[in-house]
Amino acid sequence: MTVVTHERFHPAETAEHGEHRPAAAATGAAAITLSGLEKSFGANRVLRGINLHIPAGQFVAVIGKSGCGKSTLLRILMGLDEPTGGDLRFEGADGSETGANARIVFQEPRLLPWLSVADNVAVGLGEGIEKRRAREEAKAVLAEVQLAEKAGEWPSRLSGGQRQRVALARALVSRPGILALDEPLGALDALTRISMQQLLNRVWRELGCTTVLVTHDVSEAVHLADRVIVLEEGRIALDLAIPFPHPRRHGNPDLAVLEGRLLSAILGGDGGH
Ligand SMILES: Nc1ncnc2c1ncn2[C@@H]1O[C@H](COP(=O)(O)OP(=O)(O)OP(=O)(O)O)[C@@H](O)[C@H]1O
Ligand SMILES: [Mg+2]
Repeated sequence: MTVVTHERFHPAETAEHGEHRPAAAATGAAAITLSGLEKSFGANRVLRGINLHIPAGQFVAVIGKSGCGKSTLLRILMGLDEPTGGDLRFEGADGSETGANARIVFQEPRLLPWLSVADNVAVGLGEGIEKRRAREEAKAVLAEVQLAEKAGEWPSRLSGGQRQRVALARALVSRPGILALDEPLGALDALTRISMQQLLNRVWRELGCTTVLVTHDVSEAVHLADRVIVLEEGRIALDLAIPFPHPRRHGNPDLAVLEGRLLSAILGGDGGH
């Protein structure tokens, strides 16, 4: 196993007007620590001892072959499934143990067709919040995903990329400590995908939540993440830091080198072992 240090990278301002500030962990962002995490389904040992510390505010991408346990890992992080062994802990900014406060976005947006866009986003706030305030918060987060003008629209009248932005807004509206993304851009065409990657990167830099992105797209992983983890046969086969400032340009040769390294790790080449 190759372990590369993964200190948070603090680049200098990279754009004019200070528009692209580096990410800083949000106060609510949670650190995640997995120790010897195991998950079996009957005789199928899917996760076989995962040890991983994700500092608050870090953006981690998880890649690996189909069926290697990526979604299983996310489900456990979300509290949707129980590990069969090992331990997971979440820590707040002051180092004390907290609940996960995690939200997830899936490949399909899963919007409720009988609710407006704003009301779909407000679903992310749960019950017990006054309706008018919920709508206001929904509208604010819709502006963050550049969909303010669609607040009163029906989901059926949106494009695939717009629907996925609504799903992202619904996940973000409660200001989660952890944002989990399971192939969120997998169903989008190539151009929409690139603009959504830019949007995800900007939103992450602005909100600073700890983010775990599962993707099949190695290029997407190196463009968005501080760190890429390759899962193989239930273990971490490679843990690679991507120490470049955000936002990153497509066509950067340094990223292409890391992309090649990750691809050979997944496909069984030397992968830096
Ligand atoms: N609820 C379940 N019951 C039984 N087996 C399961 C369950 N969920 C997942 N598995 C098994 O766990 C393994 C990992 O599944 P998982 O969905 O985590 O893979 P993945 O890496 O997300 O794959 P993909 O890239 O295709 O989405 C598979 O062998 C799958 O059959
Ligand atoms: Mg999956």
